[in-house]
Amino acid sequence: MLDLIPKTVWLLLPCYTPNNFAVLVGGGKPIDFGKTFFDGKRILGDGKTWRGFTGGITGGVFTANLQFAIEKLSGVAIYSSLPFSEFFILTFLLALGAMLGDLCGSFIKRRFGYERGASFPLLDQLTFLIVALILASTFPPFWKLFTIQVILLAVIITPALHFGINYIAYRLNLKEVPW
Ligand code: CTP
Ligand code: MG
Repeated sequence: MLDLIPKTVWLLLPCYTPNNFAVLVGGGKPIDFGKTFFDGKRILGDGKTWRGFTGGITGGVFTANLQFAIEKLSGVAIYSSLPFSEFFILTFLLALGAMLGDLCGSFIKRRFGYERGASFPLLDQLTFLIVALILASTFPPFWKLFTIQVILLAVIITPALHFGINYIAYRLNLKEVPW
């Protein structure tokens, strides 16, 4: 059970990292091209850009390949237990799904009238994960690594990790608020 937590985090890095890369490289044209939805509010908002979306996916794929290399060097075989082509498609789908899920989250936030950047607890931390898992699960090799226990643990630890990391950042005075 205990070693299931680091294993789950390791498996999830290709969907955790895309948003960080999006923050780094984001900017420029918004994905919704500034358009509003039927409710008069922005479809997605200025926080979702083409550069962030593509850079995020690229960043997730980059992270996964780094993980593959680390596994090969250290002799641990999690992702590297798969043939390279399966590993590549699986982690690409995780990164793509994370960025698509992030768009779904923003779409829902705009419909509820939340401004860009406003925090919406649980939606912010889970939509990206759930869409990533659903998309990747359509690729059968997913089930070789993502057991039911891993999936359940993923849904529990992702918000916990998020709040934990934000709390540490707050205590270190890196953030104004603990969430
Ligand atoms: N970002 C981007 N393109 C994306 C996702 C993120 O450019 N597809 C960048 C934006 O600069 C964004 C930042 O990463 O402001 C943080 O991402 P996120 O927290 O997902 O967006 P928010 O600005 O909080 O917007 P929203 O309220 O829609 O979640
Ligand atoms: Mg945000």
